Amino acid sequence: MTEDAAIVRACAKINLLLRVGPRREDGYHELVTLIARISLADVLLISDAPETAVDCPAIPGGDTLVTRALRLLCETAGHTSGFHVHIDKRIPHGAGLGGGSADAAAALRFANDLLPRPLIDSEIHRLAALIGSDVPALLHDEATVARGRGDRVEVLGHLPAGWLALAHPGRPLATRDVYQRYVADGRPLPQTIALPQTLEEMAALIENDLAVPAEDLEPACRSLREQFMALGSMAACVSGSGSVVFGLFHTEQEATTAAANVEGAPWTATAALGTHPAA
Ligand code: C5P
Repeated sequence: MTEDAAIVRACAKINLLLRVGPRREDGYHELVTLIARISLADVLLISDAPETAVDCPAIPGGDTLVTRALRLLCETAGHTSGFHVHIDKRIPHGAGLGGGSADAAAALRFANDLLPRPLIDSEIHRLAALIGSDVPALLHDEATVARGRGDRVEVLGHLPAGWLALAHPGRPLATRDVYQRYVADGRPLPQTIALPQTLEEMAALIENDLAVPAEDLEPACRSLREQFMALGSMAACVSGSGSVVFGLFHTEQEATTAAANVEGAPWTATAALGTHPAA
């Protein structure tokens, strides 16, 4: 580890709103999504190295998105050496929580700061879009609205504070499979999305067009959503393309109780979202 090593938290996301339009000619779907960052995070240790290498004990063969992101960054910046990254994985894979994309976005942002001549923000954004549809939005800590295939990002600001119970049914879902099963219903995509000012406003806008195909592919997701509602959540939904289901609560205590009582989930967690007063 050099003196320039950076310890970086790569926070997961949930999609509070995900509206999906028709499939485009390039195979992607046009979408509008409101993305919130949450406190559940992978931890990355990034340092200079002669060549780029990623060590992620939780994923055999390492994390390909981070490797791709860093190779692309070095190539674009004309940087002849690379970076070493160690990833301590906390965000489950195939969960709709953007774990791999958050790691790639964090690696791009923070490795860029270690370069002698860093790339400008618009270049980092362009590279992020080449890595994956979720990566550009996950360059930002605040809530964002993403459009297009996910690559047109607008920063909305800070959300009101809330707590989430998260439950994983034990089987990951592949994003491509869930999109393939989605049948567009012809409803127009929203033109504008306002930043919710209260937790009640946030709960009211929770909606996900991929929930039906995700719950069809993994019926345990439906059961987890219904259980969270029965356990008192303000709203509950699959995140992104699943398979994690979140329930929204006012307090940490309520979220912890729900996570402890939900049945049929080998992995559960609680996480904060929005701006909490400093402890
Ligand atoms: O961009 P990314 O590699 O994360 O996307 C994974 C898959 O999800 C794509 O290959 C595509 O099948 C689907 N997808 C989509 N429309 C989007 C984003 C992703 O159909 N807007």
